[in-house]
Amino acid sequence: MVLEEHKSLKAYNTFGIDCNARYFISAKSVTALKEVLSKYANKEIFILGGGSNMLLTKDIDALVVHVDIRGISVVSEDEQHVQVKAMAGENWHDFVLYCIEQGYGGIENLSLIPGNIGTAPIQNIGAYGVELKDVFHSCSALNVQDLTEETFYKSDCEFQYRDSIFKNKAKGKYIITSVTLTLTKKDHTLSTSYGAIQQELKEQQVTEPTIEAISKAVIAIRQSKLPDPAKLGNSGSFFKNPVIDSDAFQEFRSNFPDAPFYEVSPTEFKIPAGWLIEQAGFKGKRFGDAGVHDRQALVLINHGTATGNDIWELALRIQKAVKAQFGIYIEPEVNII
Ligand code: EPU
Repeated sequence: MVLEEHKSLKAYNTFGIDCNARYFISAKSVTALKEVLSKYANKEIFILGGGSNMLLTKDIDALVVHVDIRGISVVSEDEQHVQVKAMAGENWHDFVLYCIEQGYGGIENLSLIPGNIGTAPIQNIGAYGVELKDVFHSCSALNVQDLTEETFYKSDCEFQYRDSIFKNKAKGKYIITSVTLTLTKKDHTLSTSYGAIQQELKEQQVTEPTIEAISKAVIAIRQSKLPDPAKLGNSGSFFKNPVIDSDAFQEFRSNFPDAPFYEVSPTEFKIPAGWLIEQAGFKGKRFGDAGVHDRQALVLINHGTATGNDIWELALRIQKAVKAQFGIYIEPEVNII
C-alpha cells in the first residue's frame, strides 16, 4: 500500500471537482483496511467509496482511504432464491449487469445508478419503484474504533427514503465492507408500475417483460434524462424530494393545482423537487461552469471547471428561490464536504 500526499480527487468524485487529499491510500482488502486504520490511528480518516454522492467544497485535510475491495460470491441458494455477496469496492451497475447475466432478479430497476456497492445501503439507493432495502439481506461493516467486523441485518439498518442508520447514529463509526442481497432465480417479482418503464417497454415492443428487458428500459430512460458523469460531472439527484404534511399539502394544492405529487401516507405527501426547481426557472440554467441539467432539473452539473463552492452557491440559490415561491424547503441528498 502506498501512502500518497496532496493527491487530486478529481478522478474520484463523479462531480469531477478538483480538490486535494492531504494523504491518500487505497485499501484492496478488509485486512489492508484494518492495517491502514491501525497504522494511522493518529490521523483523521475520510472514507471514500465511489464518490458519487458527495460535493467537495474544500481540500480534505485528512487521510482519504479509498475502499477498493473487489469480489462477488454466492453465499447460499435454493431453487427459488440466491444470496449474493458483493464487496464494497465493486461498481454498482457492473454488479447489476452481472446479476442479470446470471438470471438473478430484484435489482434490474436499479440499473445505471452511479457509485459502488459499499455506498448503496448508506442512502438506500432507489429508482423506478424499487429501493435497495427491498432486496437487502445484510452488510458487513468494520467498526473504526475497535476494528471488529459487525453484521447489520435489514432490520438493523433503519432504512427509509434515501436514508439509513449509516447517515444517522452510525455515521462515521463504520466502514461497509460488503453487502449481501437476496435475489430471485425464477418467478421474479417485476416492478413495472412506473409510467416511464411501461412506456419504454411499449416502445421496445416488449409484451412479456424479463429482468433484462426492464434493465434495458431503465438504462434507456436514465440515459435520456440523466447526464453521464463520465462526460458531464454530476451526482444524480442533488436534492431529495420534499415530504410535506397534510396542512401544507392542502395549501400547496390550492395554489398549484397542476403540481405532480405522490401520497406517501394519508398525512404525508411527496412533491418532486425537479418540478419545483423547473417552476422556479432554473432548468437548463448555467452560472459559469455550475449548472442545472436541461432534461432533469434535480441534477446539478459541472460543465468543466466549476469548484464545489460554485455548485454549492447555485444549490443555495435554488433552495432559496424554491422556498420563496412555494414555501417548501428542499434538502440536499448529496453529502456536502
Ligand atoms: N419533473 C419536472 N421537471 C424536471 C424533473 C422532474 O417537472 O426537471 C417532474 C416530472 O415530470 C415528474 C416528477 O417531477 O412528474 C418526477 O420526476 P422523475 O420521474 O424524473 O423522478 P424524480 O422524483 O425527479 C426520483 C429519484 C431519482 C430516480 C427517479 C426515478 C430522488 C431524489 N430522485 O427522481 O434518483 O432515478 O425518481 O425513480 O428521489 C438519484 O437519487 O440520484 C436519482 C437519480
